[in-house]
Amino acid sequence: MGKILVTGGLGYIGSHTVVALHESGYSVLIVDDLSNSERTVLQGLEKIIGFTPEFIELDLRDKAAVKNIFDQHSFDGVIHFAASKAVGESVENPLLYYENNINALVYVLQNCVAHGVHNFIFSSSCTVYGEPDYLPIDESAPIKRALSPYGNTKQIAEEILHDLCKVSDLRTILLRYFNPIGAHDSALIGELPKGVPQNLVPFITQTAAGLREQLSVFGDDYPTADGSCIRDYIHVMDLAEAHVVALDRLVKKAQQEPVEVFNLGTGQGNSVLEVIKTFEEATSVTLPYKIVGRREGDVIAVYADTKKATQVLGWSTQRDLATSLSSAWAWEKRIRGL
Ligand code: NAD
Ligand code: WQD
Repeated sequence: MGKILVTGGLGYIGSHTVVALHESGYSVLIVDDLSNSERTVLQGLEKIIGFTPEFIELDLRDKAAVKNIFDQHSFDGVIHFAASKAVGESVENPLLYYENNINALVYVLQNCVAHGVHNFIFSSSCTVYGEPDYLPIDESAPIKRALSPYGNTKQIAEEILHDLCKVSDLRTILLRYFNPIGAHDSALIGELPKGVPQNLVPFITQTAAGLREQLSVFGDDYPTADGSCIRDYIHVMDLAEAHVVALDRLVKKAQQEPVEVFNLGTGQGNSVLEVIKTFEEATSVTLPYKIVGRREGDVIAVYADTKKATQVLGWSTQRDLATSLSSAWAWEKRIRGL
């Protein structure tokens, strides 16, 4: 099997995808600038796959360094995870997001074209849909004006890839992730949010571990069954395995068009209060929480129509919400020595 460049491969989803790639016989080169991850992730990967994957610390905004990577290595494909992903931060610091999420992508793509690397998988997000007009949401749903610079970088990136694939041999699969949660069964890799977690599940597990006093539930006055927002929480290993299926499709030249788009979710929507209840039942930990005001920019409900990924990729999620939350808790306990 070929060698795959995994940018951002020491990050949350990238590291789990490295495991799935190894299990399918791919070799990888991980490139990461450690801006939102730690070199110690390599130790977890080594314990899981039996050796330390090839890693080069590098900022993909360094155009010359990116060219050097492609000069030194021959890739059968690229999976591009590297990006800044904090929605709130993107509002305060839009240029950081446009530079990192667009320039770095362009430099990688320039080298893919120059070196004849045809297979490219891009980390997109359900955030490109904004507030859905209908649910579950499918890939043909309209792309609405982004609610944040972060979301806009994902929309722009998708447009860049469409434009490039029209005039080059690049073949790309855009994977629109819903809400990845959980950790590898070994609890040796997982989500490592820096500072106060912005996302629900790491905040839950840090609260359960006693690092946070209580969880704030951002609103229970939404037009949903229990008043809290609904999302599609997908186990990160289900997500990782989907990347291998997509890569196999490109490597085998089975894709039907230059750009293919797939939603990666469970197809199941769960409210914040349901997540809390499921966490408590799955872990026997009582979670202290309080209802507070709504968070700016939150969509009421979004969950995936998964028919296309199932019918075209032959992929669907294998792990349920309780399993995902239990794995997140096992990871939290291990890193906190509980
Ligand atoms: P993450 O922050 O854990 O991983 C991203 C990795 O990229 C980090 O290790 C970071 O150090 C690295 N990186 C960032 N900028 C870089 C640069 N200029 N050069 C080299 N490395 C760089 O994030 P994640 O949750 O694993 O997300 C991976 C991808 O999936 C991102 O593109 C993100 O936008 C997208 N995504 C994430 C979610 C989510 O909820 N986690 C949902 C939808 C889409
Ligand atoms: C989920 C639900 C919150 C924290 C974000 C990005 C999206 C993607 C995934 C990158 C919401 C509620 C949360 C808390 C809460 N990232 N919540 N208390 O907002 O769906 O998506 O991460 O692509 O782009 O927007 O995920 O985990 O932040 O929130 O009540 O302390 O949990 O209001 O309803 P979100 P989230």
